[in-house]
Amino acid sequence: MNDHECVEFLQWALPRLGMRWPGFRKVRRQVCKRVGRRMAQIEIDSIGAYRSHLESHAEEWAMLDACCRITISRFYRDRGVFEFVCDDVLPMLATAAGQRDEPTLRVLSIGAASGEEPYTAAILWRCTVAHGFPDVALDIVATDCDATMLGRADEGVYAWGSVKELPPQWRERAFEVVGQRFVLKAEFRSGVRFELADIREAALTGVFDLILCRNLIFTYFDEALQRELLARLIEHMRPGAALVIGLHERLPSFDDGLETWSERHRIYRKV
Ligand SMILES: C[S@@+](CC[C@H](N)C(=O)[O-])C[C@H]1O[C@@H](n2cnc3c(N)ncnc32)[C@H](O)[C@@H]1O
Repeated sequence: MNDHECVEFLQWALPRLGMRWPGFRKVRRQVCKRVGRRMAQIEIDSIGAYRSHLESHAEEWAMLDACCRITISRFYRDRGVFEFVCDDVLPMLATAAGQRDEPTLRVLSIGAASGEEPYTAAILWRCTVAHGFPDVALDIVATDCDATMLGRADEGVYAWGSVKELPPQWRERAFEVVGQRFVLKAEFRSGVRFELADIREAALTGVFDLILCRNLIFTYFDEALQRELLARLIEHMRPGAALVIGLHERLPSFDDGLETWSERHRIYRKV
């Protein structure tokens, strides 16, 4: 499939999956390579024939949906954002949590990939903020719809490329180096639970103090789905809770119960 066919196919297919083409512009080759592999697997040799196949086989859309999953992540991705979370957001949320009967800071990481984002939150907490809040426990729920990614998250073993952006003193404290691999120590894994869930369908339980929702909903999903999911996230945020989205993302609207905490870092607060 050439680039023109790939673009045309994605522009036709993505809206039918509740996704938006602009989010896929840069990663289209990766997606179309997977689509090509899927076509070979079911012995279809033209993109036109695959389109017809999708139109007559409803179950094939789930296979295409899986081809559209972009799973890139890294520890401490977008350093400035995590510095702000560490210096401003977590201390404020921990102070509020400490005043409650059950002093637990609940974090939800959506589209957690192989654990890089929720484990970054756990590392920040344990290496810095936790000292000032000895009575506050951190409870992180991390979800993703890709079982392979969650299997890797459970293992907690990473290559240099995944951990290289972490400040060295935290990296040394949080990981054991085994050969070329970085193995996350048990103390940084405790309190982080992984759940297989598709955010489009999953029921969220309880309320959260911090929701990390970066480089998924507001990049790849269409605006109607973004609005629906944003409303659902806000319902599950405690007043004062923070929502962190990706640096290159925008919320579909501002007037639904959120105020800006840091526009530069794309961090919002429930009013
Ligand atoms: C680009 S990665 C972002 C990882 C991390 N949040 C970050 O910003 O570094 C997107 C992740 O979302 C997951 N994902 C894609 N569609 C999803 C869905 N419908 N529900 C839950 N997770 C999904 C993918 O499997 C992938 O791991």
